[in-house]
Amino acid sequence: MTGGTGLIGSALCAALMDAGHQVTVFSRKPAGVTKKWSGAVAAVSRLDEWHEQLDFDVIINLAGEPIVDAAWTESRKKALWDSRVTFTGNLVRHIAARQRRPGLLLSGSAIGYYGDRGDEALNDLSGPGNDFAAQLCLAWEQEASRAADAGVRVCLLRTGLVLSANGGLLKRMVLPFKLGLGARLGSGRQWMSWIHIDDYVAIVMQLMADANAQGAFNMTAPQPETNRAFTATLAGVLSRPAWLVAPSFLLTWVMGARAILLTGGQKVLPARLQSGGFQFRYERLDDALRACCKRR
Ligand SMILES: NC(=O)c1ccc[n+]([C@@H]2O[C@H](COP(=O)([O-])OP(=O)(O)OC[C@H]3O[C@@H](n4cnc5c(N)ncnc54)[C@H](OP(=O)(O)O)[C@@H]3O)[C@@H](O)[C@H]2O)c1
Repeated sequence: MTGGTGLIGSALCAALMDAGHQVTVFSRKPAGVTKKWSGAVAAVSRLDEWHEQLDFDVIINLAGEPIVDAAWTESRKKALWDSRVTFTGNLVRHIAARQRRPGLLLSGSAIGYYGDRGDEALNDLSGPGNDFAAQLCLAWEQEASRAADAGVRVCLLRTGLVLSANGGLLKRMVLPFKLGLGARLGSGRQWMSWIHIDDYVAIVMQLMADANAQGAFNMTAPQPETNRAFTATLAGVLSRPAWLVAPSFLLTWVMGARAILLTGGQKVLPARLQSGGFQFRYERLDDALRACCKRR
């Protein structure tokens, strides 16, 4: 698993080990992996450490520099691109060059693939957007999909906003909300397509088990919410007011181009997962937020 030290990867490592799998994590800080899992998870720090004797059934590829944390300067954009697109290209070349290849590549992507799409309802077959985040996701998916040419089943995890007690979006939001500083972002009409981490993990397990699953999957709960509704729901769960508004011009002034990640959005529906019979444990945002905030 690449990105196995991150928010999603850590939850997946725990679930996979609980299910009896052996996990190896690719990390730039392999000693941290060994320490965190008390040696139960193996660690590699370079792709060329993956020698012919080391066989994997499944590769889960989640590596990527954080996209919201720093301004999208040209050098930051390059780091975002290299850590996803270039990295995935190298990974797929390694897979293809092996005599014994893994049967499945589950590779990360994001609903940013669709760009800022207003109220349009988007399913897994909807086309990509044009902005930087959309082009990044498109190229990331294209690199991963090349593994299919080497006979590997490929599933693309087109991920929404992951809700977890352990970090990510909620970690950034809960403290200001608790201080009564929760704010609607811009118009508040932009859609936020979210998923609870437990459902994300359960979907990955299902995609691993279903030999027919391939292609892109929207990893989002069936009921996306607008930013206005999300703000009100989180404030309600935390029993705090949220009357403030962060105007779009201010967000753009402070954050530059990446403000689109907050002021824009997409209404994404998990059509393929639902038609495949996946039962979401958290369909409603208030239930998901309550579960995360209880565990904080
Ligand atoms: N969390 C969300 O809401 C969300 C939503 C949509 C998409 N995603 C995508 O899903 C993936 C996992 O998300 P996450 O929230 O778990 O991310 P995260 O907590 O930020 O973790 C990112 C992981 O990527 C690895 N990484 C970072 N820069 C790297 C580089 N230059 N080269 C190789 N590895 C690098 C890190 O590993 P080391 O530091 O150990 O090397 C870390 O394990 C990301 O690609 C993210 O874009 C996440």
